[in-house]
Amino acid sequence: MFALTPLSLFYSVNILTLTHFQCFSVTSPAPSTVRPCTLQNRFQPAFTANGDYVIGGIFPLHYNQEMPDLNCTYRPPPVRFDPRAFRWALTMKLAVEEINQSTQLLPNYTLGYKIFDSCAYPLTGQRAAVAVLNGISEEESPTCSDASLLLAVIGESGSAQSIVVSRILQPFRIPMISYFSSCACFTDRRSYPTFFRVIPNDDYQVKAIAQLLVRFNWTWVGVVRGDHEYGRFALQGLLRELKGTKVCVAYQEMIPLLYNRQKALEIMQVESNSLAKVVVVFSAEGEMTPFLRDYMIQNITGIQWVASEAWVTASVFTGSEYYPFLGGTIGFGIRRGHISRLSDYLMTVSPENYPNNPLVKELWEALYGCSPHAPSASQLPLCTGQEILLVQHSAYMNTSSPRVAYNVYKAVYAVAHSLHNLLLCKPGMGPFENNSCAQSNNVLPWQVLKFNIAGEEVNFDLKGDSVPYYDIINWQKGTSGNIEFVNVGLFDGTKAAGEELVIYEDKLTWAGHQREVPVSVCSASCPPGSRKAVRRGEPICCFDCIPCDSGKISNETNSVECIFCPEDFWSNEDRTICIPKKVEFLAYDSLGIALTVISVVGACLTIGVFLVFFHHRNTAVVRVNNSELSFFILFALTFCFLCSLVFIGEPTRWSCMLRHTAFSITFSLCISCILAKTLVVLAAFTATRPGDNIMKWLGPKHQRVIIFSCTMVQVIICAAWLIDASPYPSRNTKYERSKIILECSVGSSLAFWCVLGYIGLQACLCFVLAFLARKLPGNFNEAKFITFSILIFCAVWLAFIPAYISSPGIYADAVESFAILASSFGLLFCLFAPKCYIILLKPEKNTKQHLMAHNHSYIVKTMDESRCDITHRKCFTSSSTSGSNGEAPPC
Ligand code: TRP
Repeated sequence: MFALTPLSLFYSVNILTLTHFQCFSVTSPAPSTVRPCTLQNRFQPAFTANGDYVIGGIFPLHYNQEMPDLNCTYRPPPVRFDPRAFRWALTMKLAVEEINQSTQLLPNYTLGYKIFDSCAYPLTGQRAAVAVLNGISEEESPTCSDASLLLAVIGESGSAQSIVVSRILQPFRIPMISYFSSCACFTDRRSYPTFFRVIPNDDYQVKAIAQLLVRFNWTWVGVVRGDHEYGRFALQGLLRELKGTKVCVAYQEMIPLLYNRQKALEIMQVESNSLAKVVVVFSAEGEMTPFLRDYMIQNITGIQWVASEAWVTASVFTGSEYYPFLGGTIGFGIRRGHISRLSDYLMTVSPENYPNNPLVKELWEALYGCSPHAPSASQLPLCTGQEILLVQHSAYMNTSSPRVAYNVYKAVYAVAHSLHNLLLCKPGMGPFENNSCAQSNNVLPWQVLKFNIAGEEVNFDLKGDSVPYYDIINWQKGTSGNIEFVNVGLFDGTKAAGEELVIYEDKLTWAGHQREVPVSVCSASCPPGSRKAVRRGEPICCFDCIPCDSGKISNETNSVECIFCPEDFWSNEDRTICIPKKVEFLAYDSLGIALTVISVVGACLTIGVFLVFFHHRNTAVVRVNNSELSFFILFALTFCFLCSLVFIGEPTRWSCMLRHTAFSITFSLCISCILAKTLVVLAAFTATRPGDNIMKWLGPKHQRVIIFSCTMVQVIICAAWLIDASPYPSRNTKYERSKIILECSVGSSLAFWCVLGYIGLQACLCFVLAFLARKLPGNFNEAKFITFSILIFCAVWLAFIPAYISSPGIYADAVESFAILASSFGLLFCLFAPKCYIILLKPEKNTKQHLMAHNHSYIVKTMDESRCDITHRKCFTSSSTSGSNGEAPPC
């Protein structure tokens, strides 16, 4: 059945003991020859007492238990005595004694107890379980003799041991009530049907720890655990609770069951290298002691410990030497209670009163460092055994707020109450089959179990668990420099979600004697205006902060996303709020005002020129320049200048319609006039003979027709444009998304370019014709000026096209307005400046004589046809020599 390795031998010994016991107790068929009942092994109990009913107790009175290695080359260190667990054992003893003295609880019965040491180790725990079942000797074994029945077992402390004990007790249906085993694994009722506990399930503790981490924003934490079920399940539970929260586990480390310095140093290395300054530890003082010793040797500080209930109230660590390293530790301690007689009772324990109890001797050795009995194996100095127990023996004497001890106390009372109820059972109203009661002289363990173990303040739920309530304990510096456990809050699992955790933050002290909450994060939080960007391959708690793009905002810290601003809104500089977009159009700001001034000045200048011309309408220069056409041009130019005003100001439906149409028609008119003028110049130049056909076709009427029809074409294009797809005001958010640009949408760009194209065409035509006529000699060669003006005009508008297309928003309007002004000025200056110069400044030149003196006769061909038909130029020519006042004679 077993391979014969030393280990299996070890196991088999235990199992055989069990089988041996089992065969006696339950299933063994009556042997034909009765063999005497003998126990295969005997284990010394810590305390025993007989009674009508016996309760077993298993406590880890020693720790540091190690099994020898398989080839026996390693000698395990000696086990160490644990005064704290000894106190628990004494508390059980006290509780039983109290019950026995009680006149209310089990008045006519006595309880006995058998308390064994588990050595805080599963295999030795198993031994204790078997010892509890078997009794100390054959006589005391309930199965061998009439000894009292073992009703229930109070134990064990560590979950790993409790699992083993529970498995052994389970076949006999002996209930066990644990005072410290909180492992969530016990919720599996099929595996542990006889297991009860007076400590909350760790599921609540991990929930509480998770809430604590979230509460203090510790998003990057390390977890260290012991190598046992308690550690394993607690870690699992914590990871489960942290799923979906903002907390990530930076590392998980395990302190090996067999303490290994090398491994411990590695763990410390990880701890000090990590950004996770908060470390949650699921372990107990047994394994924490050597670990913390090495931790202190390494002189690592700055770690904020979160202690599990197993060590958060361990008085071993209260020495002042621990404070720099462990001060500020926070954790969840199990509920405390009050046992009024405990302190006095513990005082009664002395080597004198228990001369035969080796444990009491060990207690003395542990507390006073001396041995009360000679000879001492530990080679400690001798002492009297009458030493006084003091408060500083806190590991043993700390009875001010018993927690685990109170659990032990409760557990004993729970069993007593259950038994009491069973014994009080009224026939016919019992909890068993057919409402029967238990036999008062033979209560069986399973009946205690069935009767629902319940006592004062103890209520087990269906899973055998008790009420989830924890105190939050903070390790603070006491008056003498030592560590004090200060209650700084509570966790009440029965409260509604979110209200369970209550922390009095002002009472807290953190690691390193700090008042501020320690920071334990992988990445500092992202301020509003930026968002988290998780680093590839790293947990979500490690992220970079990326500023929101413009147009997006994040208004809270640690946003996962930047959100788009609603339409018509845009992000501010900091990307924290959405502000209404700036509405822009070519307003009457500096640019708008400048354009307005220029345009008004232009218009005034034009009117000025008009007035000058009108005033000097009979002078040679005006007349020679075809005054009617000049007036037309000036009229058109005035409008051209004014046209640019329509581009300034908030675009409306009307101004949009007016903008391009008004400008294009006035320009068309203007260019048409110039075209007509050019034609006349050219015709006069080319028609060498009087009565030439060309000249016939260029009389004033014809000129008007030409002007009218050329302008009409533009008017028609504009009309079609307005009817079909007229320009309309629009909000452009595409160009610059942070602004709303109010502009005029052209409606139909084809129409827009047609209109411009038409002006361009006219200008080109004009240019070509004027170019042909440019060679006319003399001062008044109009063709030269026309060529020049059209050249400027064309240059302006050619430059306009790329500038317009590439100009952003409102500048497109400004560019167009500017082009209008520039080209208008070009025309005005080129065409009229030289004439005005002569008219105003050189009136002596403004005479026919002068003109005639300096110009060839055919220059006169171009002279004022409005008053003198070109066909009658002879008349003008003949009389021109005689006129002295510069006025042309009537024909
Ligand atoms: N609640 C712990 C458990 O269930 C308490 C404990 C007692 C413990 N002894 C221990 C934990 C030893 C680890 C090791 O196990």
